[in-house]
Amino acid sequence: MTDRYAIIGHPVSQSLSPLIHKQFARMTGNSLTYDRIDCVSAKLEKTVEGFFAEGGLGLNVTVPHKKKAFLLADRVGMRARKAGAVNILSVDKHGGIAGDNTDGTGLVRDLVRNLGIRLEGARLLLLGAGGAARGVIAPLAEQKIGSLTIANRTYASALKLVESFAGLVEIHACRLNKLTADFDLIIHATAAGLKNTTPIFDGSVVRNADCYDVMYGRRETPFMVWAQRQGAQSVTDGWGMLVEQAAESFHIWRGVWPETAMLIAARPSKRKRDSGS
Ligand code: ATR
Repeated sequence: MTDRYAIIGHPVSQSLSPLIHKQFARMTGNSLTYDRIDCVSAKLEKTVEGFFAEGGLGLNVTVPHKKKAFLLADRVGMRARKAGAVNILSVDKHGGIAGDNTDGTGLVRDLVRNLGIRLEGARLLLLGAGGAARGVIAPLAEQKIGSLTIANRTYASALKLVESFAGLVEIHACRLNKLTADFDLIIHATAAGLKNTTPIFDGSVVRNADCYDVMYGRRETPFMVWAQRQGAQSVTDGWGMLVEQAAESFHIWRGVWPETAMLIAARPSKRKRDSGS
């Protein structure tokens, strides 16, 4: 039987993970299938159990199941524990289900290796305080960043996140309407783009900063469009992060690192390094 993998989420029809993993499989000479599984939250546990019981080897987990999937794993690694979420479930060598989280390292790899952004000593602004934001804090903090400010529509959630990561890095919460232009890198991790909008704050905050949206789509995200208009130094979507986290998933499953550069270059929306280009 061919080795089976899939991405599970709801909705999931828009996911480009199957395309990425099939490409990795071709490039590395691996024979496997990678499907989409659309599954509502109430059916997650049964569907995951069924997938592995029928011989499936690994699942990528996407919105809205990353937190719930964390509870389904028999074992979770440190990265997933810090994120409070998993984006990959795999059969481990004991036959149990191991959970891990490759989102944050995917982001760091895209920022540092692909975009050449220096994180050491950088002043970072993270927009959002939900699962997507939580998942990237520890991997960013490990890069010896100078400081991390979290701003969110609901200030109390930003404060809560700051409390849970205090001690790891210099970390602050800030109200959106109190932000000033103090940042080298701004990472947008809110769900506002799904409603075709962006968090509302002063445009001078993003001027001359590198801006990164963890979301991706066939077109530039609303945050990218807005940041570019405000004079951001660069605006990038999360396509590279997606490809890099997929590469790490592929490595976990198949023991081989696929080449990512070609796929990243063939992004669905145009990558912009400079707001003027
Ligand atoms: P995810 O797991 O994708 O991060 P989530 O846990 O529901 O999803 O969190 C969504 C995040 O996007 C939150 O930070 C949310 O802000 P609130 O805490 O104030 O709800 C943010 N968000 C969603 N819609 C937004 C909007 N229109 N403007 C600004 N922030 C928004």
